Amino acid sequence: MEQKGDNFMNENMKLSLIEEAKKAREKAYAPYSNFMVGAALLTEENKIYRGCNIENGAYSPSNCAERTAFFKAISEGERAFKAIAIVGAMRGTNEKDWKICPPCGVCRQVMAEFCEKDTFEIILCEGERAIKSYRLEELLPLGFQL
Ligand code: THU
Repeated sequence: MEQKGDNFMNENMKLSLIEEAKKAREKAYAPYSNFMVGAALLTEENKIYRGCNIENGAYSPSNCAERTAFFKAISEGERAFKAIAIVGAMRGTNEKDWKICPPCGVCRQVMAEFCEKDTFEIILCEGERAIKSYRLEELLPLGFQL
């Protein structure tokens, strides 16, 4: 992740952020849905914060992987972000069969709070290596702003 001063990420950088998201997914606490999600959030200074989904027996206190990553980073004082990689699949699914795991609406709104809509990249992966990336403005057009 050696890149300073611009937002351009080449395919190898995206793949290595996906690998970080896969490691994050290993920590998922998802005993109710068995859907395990991992996220890796890249700051402007190329630091990576990992997050996993954390479920709860009362259901509504559950937290998505993306928000876990954001809240870890924000609570450490980070405020500038370049990209997030996300992977999600049912427990035990073979990686070659993984589908893209687009972020939920609530997580998109959290991204909009802290990220530039026209540059922040959301990196998704199908199978083991097929990268698809989107700018936040594509995934959250007309998002709420106070
Ligand atoms: N989940 C995430 O962590 N991120 C998403 O973008 C979508 C859903 C989690 C929440 C819950 O623990 C499980 O996936 C099933 O909804």
